[in-house]
Formats: sequence, C-alpha cells, structure tokens
Amino acid sequence: VDCNKSRKVGKRALHDFQALLNQVEQHSRPFVGKGKVADYIPALAEVNPLQFAIAVVTTDGQIYTAGNCESRFTIQSVSKVMTLTLALQRYEEALWRRVGKEPSGTAFNSLTQLEFEKGIPRNPFINAGAIVTCDALYSRLSAPIHSMLEAFRAQSDNPRVIIDKKVANSEYEHRHRNAAMAHLMKSFGNFDNQVDDVLKAYFHYCAIELNVVELAKAYSYLSNAGYCQFSNQQLLTARQTKQLNSLLFTSGLYDAAGDFAYRVGMPGKSGVSGTIIAVVPGKFTVAVYSPGLDKVGNSVAGIEALAKLSEMIEFNAF
Ligand code: DON
Repeated sequence: VDCNKSRKVGKRALHDFQALLNQVEQHSRPFVGKGKVADYIPALAEVNPLQFAIAVVTTDGQIYTAGNCESRFTIQSVSKVMTLTLALQRYEEALWRRVGKEPSGTAFNSLTQLEFEKGIPRNPFINAGAIVTCDALYSRLSAPIHSMLEAFRAQSDNPRVIIDKKVANSEYEHRHRNAAMAHLMKSFGNFDNQVDDVLKAYFHYCAIELNVVELAKAYSYLSNAGYCQFSNQQLLTARQTKQLNSLLFTSGLYDAAGDFAYRVGMPGKSGVSGTIIAVVPGKFTVAVYSPGLDKVGNSVAGIEALAKLSEMIEFNAF
C-alpha cells in the first residue's frame, strides 16, 4: 500500500512527525464513532463509522500517516476546492460576478439566502456556489467528468482512482434540493447549461474515491504556492493560491468556519463523508477521515485531530 511505502522516506524528520501523528491519533480515538454518519444520501449511510485516518504531505515530498490510511471514501464537498481551482484556471473576474467571497452563516445546502441575494451564492464552497462554479467549468470543458477525474489521478499520483458510481447515482436520484438551487439560479439568469447535466457532473465530482494519502497529495499544491509536485504542474499562481486559502479560511467549513479558525487556525475544507483537508502554507497539506459528523456536517474526530495537530506543532496562521 502507498502509505506503507512512503513511510520509508526521510528518516529523522519522519521520526518526529510520525511520533506526532501517532499522538494525534491517540488523542482522536475516543472521538471516533461519535456524531452521526451522513444519512441523507442512502449510499453514504452504509459506511462503517469506526474509522480514522490521517495523512500529511509536506512541501518537500515527505508523507506521514496514522490510522487506517488505506480506507477509501468519496471526497464529497472537498471536491469543491478542485472545481474552483479548475474554474480559476479559466476565469478571473467573470467567475466572481457569479459567486461571492463571503461566509454564508447558513447550512451548506441552504436555499433561503439564495433568493434574497438574487441567485448569487455567497461563496464557492456552499452547495449553490459549487454548483454555479461547476456550471462555469462545464461551459469550458468538452468532457467535464473525465477532466476532473484525470486531474485527481495526476495530482494524487494514482492513475487508478475511480468514481463511486453508486454514490454518484444515489445523489443524483436524491438531487431535489440541489436541483432547486440550480433552477433558482437559472431563474435569476445565473446558470448557462442544463441543470441536470451540471448536477450530474457535480455529483460525480463529489463521488471521486480516494484515501487520505491521495487526498493530501491531490491538494498538496495549496501548501506549495500552487505547484503540485506529483503531477509536476503549476495549477495556480502563488497569488491565486493565497487567495484560495483565504477563502477556505473564511468559508471552508460552512457555518462552523469561525469555530474551526479558532480551534485549528488553518485554511480547511470539509465534506459530509467525514473528511477534512487543512493547509499549512509553505509546510504541508493534511487530510483526515472519520465518518461521524457533528450537527453542522463536519467530522467530529477529524476536527479533534486537526485541533490537536495545530496545538502540537504550535501552528496557526497568526
Ligand atoms: O451536495 C451534496 O449534498 C453532497 N454531495 C456534498 C455535500 C457535502 O459534502 C457538503 N459538506 N459538508
């Protein structure tokens, strides 16, 4: 397995960081299984809640892990960061006329604000914002699902990454709330393509299946000034990467972004499968997985792990 192989790199630093991750895991264990597994998508409700995994990918290419790091899961809303990244490669200001940069203060799937604010979602990380970003991306890609999958394959350094079709189809069948958002945006003139086509792409992005090591690799560019060392690509400029991290800091954990900033102090993004990525710019990207969610929809043990990690490395953006 990938994660065992990577333990051999870089002895001394590895030893320290490895000990640290072991302590993080030990700290987090009592929280594993706490909270509730997402059940609004039937295929997600079947997941074993007693899982925990964490992986760190440093900017100099070291990889450290603890827990069941071979466990695979769908990345859900963490895909929204890649959607935005691919959109930012193709649009600048034109995208920001269609989606805002402000925290929403509402649930990730809230509809009400979208009507008051005339079909312009608050930010690209709530569902409405991710869906409109998908719509923009959809207009510029000839094979939107394939291009996203290829991006994850290249950046996670695993050409065999797949999409969990069962999850994607189950989400599509239960798409009513997301479809309502897309139609509302269309009624305000903020949607170009067929709603169902874009939703299909959006759900396939959410259903990309990775383990924590692959996820941390895929988002390693966020801690590395936009450069992905696994695909050898400059995905964003250093400036765009700073801007993206700033938005993750204020909106990456929905209406719990303030609490996460307070406890963890890193830009981050969560998903309802129980995964969270977080970034220490210039140092490392970390991915954590544990399916039990708190009321907002964030992994209980995942947040505990990142808070402990932040405390132990004495890092926070300030
Ligand atoms: O749109 C949905 O319902 C999901 N596929 C993605 C939701 C998600 O992960 C939001 N996260 N906390």
